[in-house]
Amino acid sequence: MYADLFLTLLFSVLLCKEATCATNQTFPNYFKFGVATASYQVEGAWNEDGKGENIWDHLCHTNPDFVDDRSNGDIACDSYHKYKDDVAMLKDLGVDFYRFSLSWSRLIPLGLAGSPVNQAGIDYYKNLIQELVNNNIEPLVTIFHWDLPETLQEYGGFPNPEIEEHFAYYARVVFKNFGDSVKYWLTFNEPLQTCHEGYGIGFTAPGYKSSGLAEYKCTHTLIKAHARAYHVYDEEFRTQQQGYVGIAPDTYWYEPASGSVSDQEAAERALQFTYGWFANPIFNGNYPSVMIERIDERSKLQGFASSRLPKFTDEEVEYIKGTHDFLAINAYSTLYVQAKEEEVDTAVISYDSDLNVDTFFDDSWEESASSWLRVVPWGMRKLLNWLSKTYNHPEIFITENGVSDTGGLNDDRRINYYREYLSNVLEAILDDGVNVTRYTAWSLMDNFEWARGYTEKYGLYSVNFDDPGRPRTSKASASYYSSVISSKCLVDNCE
Ligand code: BGC
Repeated sequence: MYADLFLTLLFSVLLCKEATCATNQTFPNYFKFGVATASYQVEGAWNEDGKGENIWDHLCHTNPDFVDDRSNGDIACDSYHKYKDDVAMLKDLGVDFYRFSLSWSRLIPLGLAGSPVNQAGIDYYKNLIQELVNNNIEPLVTIFHWDLPETLQEYGGFPNPEIEEHFAYYARVVFKNFGDSVKYWLTFNEPLQTCHEGYGIGFTAPGYKSSGLAEYKCTHTLIKAHARAYHVYDEEFRTQQQGYVGIAPDTYWYEPASGSVSDQEAAERALQFTYGWFANPIFNGNYPSVMIERIDERSKLQGFASSRLPKFTDEEVEYIKGTHDFLAINAYSTLYVQAKEEEVDTAVISYDSDLNVDTFFDDSWEESASSWLRVVPWGMRKLLNWLSKTYNHPEIFITENGVSDTGGLNDDRRINYYREYLSNVLEAILDDGVNVTRYTAWSLMDNFEWARGYTEKYGLYSVNFDDPGRPRTSKASASYYSSVISSKCLVDNCE
């Protein structure tokens, strides 16, 4: 294995062209490396020990064709039973932290505020956290990673403002039970995908298609729920627990397709309609003005009595503003952006027409197994610079970055991806002065990749899903990542 790694590194150092050579500088000592997973994607045990049904259980069981290979997360990687194996893998990798998510319906089967808490669920996460702590691995916990309790969906899901109350109850339960050991929290993973894909275009559970309408209501509730959880922490737990709370929105880097003003404005607008949609209320107060203006104007032309983008009251703006202790970003790829004719088609109601840009990949960019993801390492550096500038130089955690293939243990392309992306992260830190302090690889192991089922693999470890024991095997990328973590260096010889 190590001989292979040596050859791979040597090969890449000999062959790299100047523009894509990984930097041979080292990551600062304070920099932390981790890996991530999410409850529905790895845990399995979907109906064991009192766990309630969630929207992914429901969707996969009632509409199996929704998932490419008609699979589901009933067993997944079986981490519910094999969490000690997962921690052993983390230990082998040498990671500083493990980002995992909690299953809301495992902890509160009905999801509803005031409803019973499932002690077996509490015990499971306590055991996992204890195992991490025993092995010197810091837990970084995502409170919500897409698996809404089905009962709450029956109440309308995130477009229903009452979800804020239920989420506040859930957040209080998790801070209370796990906050002595967990110091880093993310309220929501990729809220854009929860709302745009879940309630806008229907690509993920619950599979609703109400673009430009329910998806805006969804984000409105979700942002308020995030702020509520932050304040619950602040008021009831922070003094004693001394932890940090943030949210993990995602975006592409949007590169203007030309130097024209209209393309540059279009690219900035795309960033504001994705990352800014969540970060602007939380960092600066209120939705980005470009979203407010465009959606207000279009709603009026379309004959709506009020804007399709709900309004925060002045009190809400103040309550939401500042609810962050760091900035988190999930980022994988880049798109070119071109401006479009600014004609409003009053018959078309959608987020895409509110944004109104054309996006495309360059044909020369290396493909992955996921149609939405091409390998564009320089986009990471540009994105980090944009985030730093736009949000006033915050501490930045990269909470997800990675690439898919269709399987195999000799995953040289994944090694190249990590090396080149990390090289751009390092340049952003050392050459541009961006304050990135954590990097999280997606993912620890191959897992249930949502609507793609088990057809796309993102893991550093492979899992044999045909074997009931779900054995895990390390890939070449695991040894590469582990050597980066121990040396803080991307090539075989750092300065
Ligand atoms: C999600 C993960 C997912 C990964 C790869 C992210 O959007 O947070 O759950 O597996 O991308 O698609």
